[in-house]
Amino acid sequence: MTFTEKEKSPLASMDHWEDELLTRYPEPKNKEKEKQEYRNYVDSDRVNTVREFYRLNHTYQTYDFVVQKEKDFLQFNKREMSIWDAVDFLNTLVDDSDPDTDLDQFQHLLQTSEAIRGDGHPDWFVLMGFLHDLGKVLCLFGEPQWAVVGDTFPVGCKHSDKIVYPEFFEANPDSKDDRYNTKYGVYSPNCGLENVKMSWGHDEYLYQIMKNYLPEEALYPIRYHSFYPQHRDDAYSHLMSKHDYKMFEWVDKFNPYDLYSKVPVPPNVKELRPYYEDLVAKYLPSTLKF
Ligand SMILES: [Fe+2]
Ligand SMILES: [Fe+2]
Repeated sequence: MTFTEKEKSPLASMDHWEDELLTRYPEPKNKEKEKQEYRNYVDSDRVNTVREFYRLNHTYQTYDFVVQKEKDFLQFNKREMSIWDAVDFLNTLVDDSDPDTDLDQFQHLLQTSEAIRGDGHPDWFVLMGFLHDLGKVLCLFGEPQWAVVGDTFPVGCKHSDKIVYPEFFEANPDSKDDRYNTKYGVYSPNCGLENVKMSWGHDEYLYQIMKNYLPEEALYPIRYHSFYPQHRDDAYSHLMSKHDYKMFEWVDKFNPYDLYSKVPVPPNVKELRPYYEDLVAKYLPSTLKF
């Protein structure tokens, strides 16, 4: 299948998806009462581009699409690079068309990890925060935005109506396919997420790259941080195992750092870099295959 530029990149910046999350979830989970000041994007015509983004995502993220992407990307034959090369590479994602993008990807990663570090969490959790969005390099391999970012959801079973814009699943062929459109689809009750295929994006991709190097508590948030339908809305409890729920404590712990650590003051990259060089070297090999 081929897509036009507009279909590949409906958003002026991939960050607009995360900005929209702040509109949807203006407060951290379980702290809904604590009012904080975040920008509200509801009035802008971003609503329309974000809508279009979800329309494409919900239409084309099918079970077969995921199988296809796994076949292609899990060979890791695109590029071999160090984490620092990947960070630099990711930072080439600059959107001239977007005057609102104040911080680059590297700065988002550092703000997230520094907030985690500031709260005294273990160093692998700090590292996880620093790495969590590196899977977005998929965009630089020519992938459409809706196959890189966006809320993730299980494929191969019925789409929950708790997923944002559920009406767009009407156009997804899986919703007409009897193998995939029942509550459990190809899965069994509480089979555990390790047996569940998720819509394709930066979470799963980075998880597959990191799975041998970090503790499971760090791998869960890498793999499921965009699975908002579950970690915010508990929409797939029927697929979750007890172990998943236990590990999702770390997904929940991570989410506020991801969503609410964006402040307009850029972190001091120069000053912080040595600490992160040591941390990366402690857990990861000098180069990784992407
Ligand atoms: Fe992310
Ligand atoms: Fe993020």
